[in-house]
Amino acid sequence: QKSTTGQSHAKIIFFGEHSVVYGQPAICLPISKIKTVVSIKSSSEGQQVSSRYFTGFLSEMPESQTGIQLLIKTVLTELNQEKTPFGLTITSEIPAERGMGSSAATAVAIVRAFFHFFKQPLSHTELLRLADVSEQYIHGNPSGLDAATVSSQTPIWFVRGRRPQAIPIKQNTFLVIADTGIMGQTGLAVQHVKSQLASDPQAEAAIESLGKYAKQARHCLAIGDSKKLGLLMNHSQTILSKLGVSHPTLDLFANLSLSNGALGAKLTGGGMGGCLISLTPDKPSAEKVATVLEKHGAIHTWIEPLVTLNRKG
Ligand code: PMV
Repeated sequence: QKSTTGQSHAKIIFFGEHSVVYGQPAICLPISKIKTVVSIKSSSEGQQVSSRYFTGFLSEMPESQTGIQLLIKTVLTELNQEKTPFGLTITSEIPAERGMGSSAATAVAIVRAFFHFFKQPLSHTELLRLADVSEQYIHGNPSGLDAATVSSQTPIWFVRGRRPQAIPIKQNTFLVIADTGIMGQTGLAVQHVKSQLASDPQAEAAIESLGKYAKQARHCLAIGDSKKLGLLMNHSQTILSKLGVSHPTLDLFANLSLSNGALGAKLTGGGMGGCLISLTPDKPSAEKVATVLEKHGAIHTWIEPLVTLNRKG
């Protein structure tokens, strides 16, 4: 029986969430140890899909799964395989609605798995274009940053509408990613920022500052200035909080991180829940921050050495 897989991984936004929607740059990091795997087997029993949300025929997927259903149908049409039976299984370690790119990772892994299954070449541009089918459906008007990062092996510099650039990182620091357990609300947060921009004359300057911090952070990453990098994270968090996209638990986690040795801390992704990221100078301090945050309610923490993120493969 023929069987193939397609993979992708989680992501976080280091700098530039929200401002990226308005043309400012963002720095995004792939988190390759948190994976999504899609496997496809040949089948004689129609087109079947199985995931943590649904098991059954493609044609019977519930409304909540319409984005994925639409993506699969689009891919099959492009590959001229509309009627071919298969059994597709989605296995993901990425928590949903936490700003870690779970929907984009599923989309990227599905596209890769089908192209592999039907032995068709797939360019990166085509991969991103197809992944965008479900992302558009699920998120309305996403910047495209999620799909670009969950399919990348290197940290990227992302500007809306431009080709993502790999960026070098010279660091010996560690990131702690802490899941508040609260569903992030990217759609709501994006709307909230939009209405702030319409009503608050200071909001535009806030967006520009977030972009400026991303530019300065790129420089800090390249030269290894982790102290300044931490400060830039704190400045970004202050602004994101003023824009109204933080959450009391994120603010609490940020303060706890800073009082336990972190160089900086901020929310990541859309906010209003989701995850906090803290930059720590070494592994023991990362472990300390992770322990403290878990004690205060983080449902999961991951420690990610920043130095290895620019390795290929
Ligand atoms: O919550 P996430 O990780 O999907 O990130 C959303 C990032 C925003 O800048 C808030 C929106 C976007 O489309 O880029």
